Amino acid sequence: MCGIVGYIGNKSAYPIIIQGLQRLEYRGYDSAGMALYNEALKVYKCKGRVADLEKHMESNDTLGSVGIGHTRWATHGEPNDRNAHPHTSMNGNFVLVHNGIIENYAELKSDLKKNGVTFQSDTDTEVLVNLIEYFYKQGDEITGEIAVRLALSKIVGAYGIAVICKNEKDQLICARKGSPLVIGIGHGEYFIASDATPIINYTNSVIYLNDHDVAIITKDSLTLKTIENTPVPFKITKIDMSIGDLEKGDFEHFMLKEIFEQPKTIEDTFRGRITSDHQEIVLGGLLDIFPKILNAKRIILIGCGTSWHAALVGEYLIEEYARIPVEVEYASEFRYRNPILTTEDVVIAISQSGETADTLAALRMAKEKGVTIIGICNVVGSSIARETDAGVYTHAGVEIGVASTKAFTAQVTVLTLLALKLAKKKGQLSNEIFLNLVNELTEIPEKLKSILIKHPHIKNVALKYRDAVNALYLGRGCLFPVALEGALKLKEISYIHAEGYAAGEMKHGPIALVDDNLPVIVVAAKDSYYEKIVSNIQEVKARKGNIIAVVTEGDDGLKEMVNDLFEIPKSHPAVTPLLAIVPLQLFSYYIAVLRGCDVDQPRNLAKSVTVE
Ligand code: AGP
Repeated sequence: MCGIVGYIGNKSAYPIIIQGLQRLEYRGYDSAGMALYNEALKVYKCKGRVADLEKHMESNDTLGSVGIGHTRWATHGEPNDRNAHPHTSMNGNFVLVHNGIIENYAELKSDLKKNGVTFQSDTDTEVLVNLIEYFYKQGDEITGEIAVRLALSKIVGAYGIAVICKNEKDQLICARKGSPLVIGIGHGEYFIASDATPIINYTNSVIYLNDHDVAIITKDSLTLKTIENTPVPFKITKIDMSIGDLEKGDFEHFMLKEIFEQPKTIEDTFRGRITSDHQEIVLGGLLDIFPKILNAKRIILIGCGTSWHAALVGEYLIEEYARIPVEVEYASEFRYRNPILTTEDVVIAISQSGETADTLAALRMAKEKGVTIIGICNVVGSSIARETDAGVYTHAGVEIGVASTKAFTAQVTVLTLLALKLAKKKGQLSNEIFLNLVNELTEIPEKLKSILIKHPHIKNVALKYRDAVNALYLGRGCLFPVALEGALKLKEISYIHAEGYAAGEMKHGPIALVDDNLPVIVVAAKDSYYEKIVSNIQEVKARKGNIIAVVTEGDDGLKEMVNDLFEIPKSHPAVTPLLAIVPLQLFSYYIAVLRGCDVDQPRNLAKSVTVE
């Protein structure tokens, strides 16, 4: 939520900041702005997208080799020019961009008002920049850096900030607590960003800030310290990302590109983790901690949104094959409900970004209770990846589309690997069955290609249902989370209200919605629940619902019963979620495109939810 970018060096900051904001736009697109320091400190901002800011800048002075920029996902104050970042302190001494929420802003604001401070915006951020100025004015010995640290010591909440002090123009100050910040190290220049994507054009050497770190940066130096002024050593990390990963190539949208990347990303996820004879699964990141997972009394999988859906697939697989009890929790509930946890539990957090505030807070809560915490993350070096005891990267590559697609299949792939590995070590699977399941997993990329090739058919079906107002998605077993995920994809990018339901639950309520206007999407691949789901299809059909079914190739019986179908190749039920979700991703994508929706940046959403 909100993207921050900054530059200090000898180059012109403007193009670096604009390009950085474009890369970070997935984090929020309610407004955009920047501050540039040349002979004076200039602030430019406007409601809307980075493209609107660029237009606005056409008639403005873009000179300066120090600058900060921001793309906003609104929390406090509606999206408008006034509330756009950067925010300037009342006397113009400081300019600041912020990602996060200042929880005690109301109290601080009222104190500042009593001291004569006036405000221009409705944001919590403007309170912080004025608090910094308040401390700055307390004495000549108070430098910009000291003022920032003093102000941060009064803050309750989350922040990633970048600050310029008018009287110290050769310096950028940034700090983090709860919201990510990365510093890129160049030659005689530094870059700041909420993630590494704006930085990789210039350098692959980065430092990930930790909570409570304050960085004081000039073009030739970097000092890291705590808010209390204690020096902090830093670790330089090399990032492995290519610029091609950040571009759409020949695809119209990132989401479509990412859907089509899945044969490769799934392969990238299991590559190197299955021995060449397919007899073993190696999860290097879990090596030391594996006995703990194997002997866990209970595994608790936590996540939000799509990652929570992947966790549900994981629950089915781990319980079915490894026979270890699993619970799946929304991180946002888990963190607040004082769950009963013991040191024999293992908590596994699933997160594409590795920065989701609720997931991170839930993990920290479990860690405080002495529980072993593990991460399944996509973004290398993310907060969750760094704070967990051990973890597995999903290797899906950069996911830019706000609607998660390849990250989901990569998460499910990791959970499948984990379930099979645990099952084998527990002695729950014979070598033969293990081998068969591993073979099934390795065949998924090829099978996926045969689904993707049928995209024109999926587009034609989407054409029929583009004007739907509601949609119901049904599935059973491992395919129930697929139904949930299919519904989430449709609602988030096309704004059609969609519900995912366990098919057996339909008769307990949702069946009342079924009429000849309602598309009912049934995930009905051949598995042990097949007969049951066919009965559910009959129940919908009897009430004249329009049925679109995801079916196993060659299932001619169902062809007669449903209005439209998406065929997927035959596969073992354990790996079928990886195939069944893909036609549903494409279906949502085409419906959204046909409705003229902004597929990659749907309204009100942001890719990385770093506020609770
Ligand atoms: C997915 O399409 C969503 N945009 C969203 O639900 C997402 O999965 C959720 O915010 C969790 O994000 P994370 O995986 O980065 O933690």
